Amino acid sequence: MDAFRIQGGTRLAGRLAVDGSKNASLPQMAAAILADEPVTLRRVPQLSDISNMLRLLGELGCTGDAEHGTITLTNTDPSQTHARYDIVRTMRASICVLGPLLAKRKHARVSMPGGCAFGARPVDLHLRGLEALGATIELEGGDIVATADQLIGTTIFLGGAFGSTVLGTANVLSAATLAKGTTIIESAACEPEIIDLANLLNAMGAKIRGAGSPRITIEGVEQLGGTDHTVIPDRIVAGTYAIAAGITNGDLTIDDFPYDHLLAVTELLGQIGVHIDRVDSSEDPARCRVKVTSERHLNPAVMTTQPYPGFPTDLQAQLLALLCLASGNSIITEKIYPERFMHVAELSRMGANLIRQGPTVMAQGVRKLVGAPVMASDLRGSACLVLAGLAAEGETIVSRVYHLDRGYVRMEESLNALGAKIERINPDAPDGSTNHPTAVNRTGSGSVPASVKFNHEDEQ
Ligand code: EPU
Repeated sequence: MDAFRIQGGTRLAGRLAVDGSKNASLPQMAAAILADEPVTLRRVPQLSDISNMLRLLGELGCTGDAEHGTITLTNTDPSQTHARYDIVRTMRASICVLGPLLAKRKHARVSMPGGCAFGARPVDLHLRGLEALGATIELEGGDIVATADQLIGTTIFLGGAFGSTVLGTANVLSAATLAKGTTIIESAACEPEIIDLANLLNAMGAKIRGAGSPRITIEGVEQLGGTDHTVIPDRIVAGTYAIAAGITNGDLTIDDFPYDHLLAVTELLGQIGVHIDRVDSSEDPARCRVKVTSERHLNPAVMTTQPYPGFPTDLQAQLLALLCLASGNSIITEKIYPERFMHVAELSRMGANLIRQGPTVMAQGVRKLVGAPVMASDLRGSACLVLAGLAAEGETIVSRVYHLDRGYVRMEESLNALGAKIERINPDAPDGSTNHPTAVNRTGSGSVPASVKFNHEDEQ
């Protein structure tokens, strides 16, 4: 398994652009199942999760042609309705096919996603929403089996103990586009990825109002057509690189920065001493050019993760790496996934002074981190360890970076172009040789080759 060898202590400087959003692309790809004509998505990031979703859709008779981040999906065999465990276990977002399959093909058999490294991650709200639309849902041999001759619009409360659900909203929203009558989703997720999905579906002929607010209204239509849609920039990737600039006392210009989607993050980073300023006159506040600069002295902070527009859980680990080096005590509370703290023990190995109690971590700032071998256990935790490695004195080896490849396109290449010193190695090879990211199908030209690997046993 690949690892990163990082020589810490270099300051990042230069310019980079943010890729399209993984978490926006995945439900949009699944929504192509609803269409009677081809759906083209542009700026889809070339990541292993995207390859896995292409493979899943291919098995479901929705064939994908991928070329340099542009994917065209066409339904060629609508008789397929079974999303197998082998694929679903590689990627939790496979659950996104449930709503579209049910609405369009009247039947879906989707392997129940298991827990992940940071918690149980149930899908009860997805099922509750689809049942409210009239679906019959049963669990058979570990598979969710959903059937409905015709979904019927209704009012659905989709909130749960931890607030709204992003992919649950995506599933119910997608299914309701073809339901008979009007559906109202209350306590819908407000994330930009949901707005982008609604924009795609509306361009396909759906009638959705209110996406981005907690109440979404969907008037069902008889059929959906094709369209050509550009996916929004990835706010989590953008935030990660901004924090990378902060932790290395760097100076970065970032293009395609979704400024409006990161207001909670830019506000908090500003208080800490990492400044993100718009330096363009773009009309689109969700795709701007920003300059990120950092003060040498970082202030401590108190932060609680929240659903959008609050501070995202997907940047909690990266922020914690930064706060390890602040002058004073910081407190981070995780309200979305109370167990999402596997990076804490690894940061401690690098000299961080952290105390965790339940969903809260206190970071007592230290003057420096020291390089060490550390192990990544999930996608954002891996990014946190890479950032810590960039700032640390000496050499850090981050193992199991396949997690990172799920969410960041060639991160080591992007960072090296900004002055970082990161080598991708394979510690299992007899000579520990330098590696290229072979496990990742970069969705280059043509269809996804059958040889694409379902390489990971633990999904998120
Ligand atoms: N929840 C339930 N029941 C459900 C669904 C969710 O109780 O049926 C709970 C979850 O356990 C959690 C909370 O509700 O406590 C929110 O979970 P949500 O359903 O919103 O998460 P998700 O839709 O499965 C997406 C992202 C995650 C991101 C979360 C929260 C994708 C593919 N995944 O997951 O992204 O952390 O929203 O913003 O969009 C990542 O990119 O690293 C990642 C994990």
